[in-house]
Amino acid sequence: MAEASQRVFLALWPGAEVAGRLQHIALEAEKRCGGRRMRRDTLHITLAFLGEVAESRLPLIGEAMASLQAGRFRLRIDTSGYWAHNHIVWAGCRAWPAQLDALVGDIRCALADAGLPVATENAFFPHVTLLRKAQAVAALPEFEPIDWPVDAWVLAASSPASDGVGYRRLTGWPLT
Ligand code: 2AM
Repeated sequence: MAEASQRVFLALWPGAEVAGRLQHIALEAEKRCGGRRMRRDTLHITLAFLGEVAESRLPLIGEAMASLQAGRFRLRIDTSGYWAHNHIVWAGCRAWPAQLDALVGDIRCALADAGLPVATENAFFPHVTLLRKAQAVAALPEFEPIDWPVDAWVLAASSPASDGVGYRRLTGWPLT
């Protein structure tokens, strides 16, 4: 029998206040674009997507992440957009601190060294998916920039849920 696996990724997960503000933007965007709104507790920024990983190999991710040291930073969520190729409405940053690129680079290197190459195809672009299966509109809702203090990153797993895909945080590591 094939070994059980999980579809996993490393991500930034907002606290309650930032998640609430992102959800508000998602609600406003949904009025214009339709589609399926991501639940508030599933909003996140993916740093590295691994895809299916055998459960026996999940501890390797923890070991690789525990070897990293990185400092805290703040993100300013101040823009949004629509991607026609996958019908996603997202919120993101016009610019982001070098610490975020460094963290992503370190995570991807540590995973590769552990024999877990990331499946991410594109260059890193930090974004929070707000709506899936959305329709293009002339203008997305305006919003006040959101200040997101980032003090940790997490390992998360996706699994089918009655309302689409559900995401669960498995474990996390602090930024110091
Ligand atoms: P998305 O929201 O832009 O679709 C769980 O599926 C998370 O991993 C989502 O944030 C998703 O990004 C991201 N993801 C899924 N497949 C990916 C891939 N091949 N490369 C990068 N990120 C991916």
